[in-house]
Amino acid sequence: MDPFQDRVAVVTGGASGIGAALARAFAARGARLALADVDEAALEAAVAAHRDAGTEVLAVPTDVSDRASVARAADRVFDHYGAVHLLCNNAGIFTAGEVVKSPHQDWEYTMAVNFWGVVHGLQAFLPRMLERGEGGHVVNTASMAGLVGMQWLGIYCASKFAVVGVSEALRRELAPHGIGVSVLCPMIVATNINANSERLRPGAVARDEPPPPRPSADAMQGGVKSAEEVARRVVRAIERDEPYVLTHDEQRPILQRRSARLEACFDPERWALDP
Ligand SMILES: NC(=O)c1ccc[n+]([C@@H]2O[C@H](COP(=O)([O-])OP(=O)(O)OC[C@H]3O[C@@H](n4cnc5c(N)ncnc54)[C@H](O)[C@@H]3O)[C@@H](O)[C@H]2O)c1
Repeated sequence: MDPFQDRVAVVTGGASGIGAALARAFAARGARLALADVDEAALEAAVAAHRDAGTEVLAVPTDVSDRASVARAADRVFDHYGAVHLLCNNAGIFTAGEVVKSPHQDWEYTMAVNFWGVVHGLQAFLPRMLERGEGGHVVNTASMAGLVGMQWLGIYCASKFAVVGVSEALRRELAPHGIGVSVLCPMIVATNINANSERLRPGAVARDEPPPPRPSADAMQGGVKSAEEVARRVVRAIERDEPYVLTHDEQRPILQRRSARLEACFDPERWALDP
């Protein structure tokens, strides 16, 4: 069965950046869309563009950090379409700064959206996807920061490592049900994530002190890819049921160095007691 034609795709954070590109790529393959986003103006604009292009689309204003909001979103999508086949837990925000200097609010904000947002999506949509027994695919958006710890990105890394972990576990659990799981781990992608992440920070996690110093842009390794290119890889990953979606060649030596550091732990000399 074609994984996209007439299938229902839910994309959180579907109003901007990578999520918007995923939605366009799925629509180009004949999918029907449900876009869930907290930015209602951006959501309206994205939905209007899809309708103009002749795509069937449902707008679902949703705050993924709020469990009840995601539960309501799932009810709306199942009421409207009767099914969900592609679930992209993609909404996310970026925070940066030295761990020790970061305010507690950065932990709360980052985990609420990047970690709990994914959990809420899984809890709200998966049981009914399983119940219908029509198979499908889950794509969770993590980051290269979910595969290797990066200086200045400790909080963000914590949120994204969690997404990689749950995705790997879920992939094993859902395989017998014909539901694939891929985890998207990009390096830098050209989106408005920095500005959006500051603008969308809710009052409840407003900082009571100035933001911590940010790494300069050139401290980030790697080139910049377009969201469209990332979306093309995700489409391919769904077709082939790939566990990981990596986006940049520069990821390879970084991951090799991490593997080498782990491999070195098997050197018995390292653990030999002093005579
Ligand atoms: N841009 C990059 O370089 C990059 C790299 C690695 C991973 N990522 C990840 O990709 C995902 C998408 O980011 P992007 O770069 O497209 O950013 P973006 O800001 O362009 O898009 C994110 C979307 O998520 C929405 N959103 C934010 N908080 C939300 C919430 N609480 N509830 C619902 N929607 C919410 C925003 O309104 C926005 O439409 C994120 O999970 C991000 O961490 C991005």
